[in-house]
Amino acid sequence: MGSLANVDPEIAALVEAEERRQAGTVKLIASENYVSRAVLEATGTVLTNKYSEGYAGKRYYEGQQVIDQVETLAVERAKALFGVAHANVQPYSGSPANLAIYLAFLQPGDTVMGMGLPFGGHLTHGWSVSATGKWFTPVRYGVRRDTGRVDLDEVRALALEHRPKLIFCGGTAIPRTIDFEGFAAIAREVDAVLAADIAHIAGLIAGGAHPSPVGHADVISTTTHKTLRGPRGAMLMASSDEHATALNKAVFPGLQGGPHNHTTAAIAVALKEASTEEFKAYAHQVVANAKALAEELLARGFDLVSGGTDNHLLLIDLTSKGVGGKPAAQLLDRAGLETNYNSVPYDTRKPFDPSGIRIGTPSVTSRGMGEAEMRQIGAWMDEIVTALAKGDEVETVVDRVRSEVTELTSRFPAPGLS
Ligand SMILES: Cc1ncc(COP(=O)(O)O)c(C=O)c1O
Repeated sequence: MGSLANVDPEIAALVEAEERRQAGTVKLIASENYVSRAVLEATGTVLTNKYSEGYAGKRYYEGQQVIDQVETLAVERAKALFGVAHANVQPYSGSPANLAIYLAFLQPGDTVMGMGLPFGGHLTHGWSVSATGKWFTPVRYGVRRDTGRVDLDEVRALALEHRPKLIFCGGTAIPRTIDFEGFAAIAREVDAVLAADIAHIAGLIAGGAHPSPVGHADVISTTTHKTLRGPRGAMLMASSDEHATALNKAVFPGLQGGPHNHTTAAIAVALKEASTEEFKAYAHQVVANAKALAEELLARGFDLVSGGTDNHLLLIDLTSKGVGGKPAAQLLDRAGLETNYNSVPYDTRKPFDPSGIRIGTPSVTSRGMGEAEMRQIGAWMDEIVTALAKGDEVETVVDRVRSEVTELTSRFPAPGLS
């Protein structure tokens, strides 16, 4: 048996093309990152060959002498890094991790309260098209129209009215710090379980650049592939052991079969990397870069939801620029600036053609870029959006920015890429 290039040249060529695309693009997608060579290596190992239903020391298959050690290392590193009593590293990704929370604490039809999708919440927090919105009774909070921020008085009033059994805080397009303590007080008042979904900000929390939900939330859910810079995967954690059995049972056998051991190994590697001083500096630089980019965009007349950012992401409402989010994202991509179009709070346009774009700094910071590069990126974004709005010299501007982006990316090699 040969290498990938010999066995399947078509796929090998596509992987290579994607690697080249990633190398030459300024990735501003807030939920993405580059993993290290070490994380990539762990992901592509023979651990993928092994079935390990169950947990370390209590498996349904023999031959777990090595896998038990891998999973135990991942669990212990998660516990140490986040300061939690319990960690489960088996969820296949963020969505099944969140579904496991429902299975652990709710019965079908029970009420769940989460941030509405158009306000920055995630599908799995009870949105209508998700199983979580179909099989449970969702109640949604949003952000205030005038501030673009969560209003805990509104959250509390809704909680008192609907008495949810489960409350989610956190989300996918929230540019501001999450008040875990405030959410916990509301959850306690209505006797609800508080789940903090830290998928986007796990790396910032690990690096001390965002407050931690530990000691406030009953359960913490996170993906491992965003700011945490690990492989695609997820973890469920809890400050105490109180819910450990319920959470473990919900993941396996409740929702999943065998864990993806190669992913578990890569999560362990990422957690080791995230416990270094270098990673702390990275997390703080992610935030400093987001603030610099926000300043540049504000100075150029962009409208940022909530007026700025406290974390790694910015939500831009392009209404005042006279362009939609989708055509802007498409043109930016042609210029080598990769973003995603996104609804903004109180959006009057449809989700597939919304008013905003979402951008973030985790990936560019992983490449070693700093505030000066953020200002340059802000200037390019302005040029592209202005050209789009005017419909003037669009091709010329795109071509020039594209070549300047290529020059910038060549000076800041991305981790993990050869
Ligand atoms: C806050 C939040 N929770 C959960 C998820 C789901 O993760 P996955 O895409 O791995 O299922 C995401 C993904 O974007 C997210 O942003």
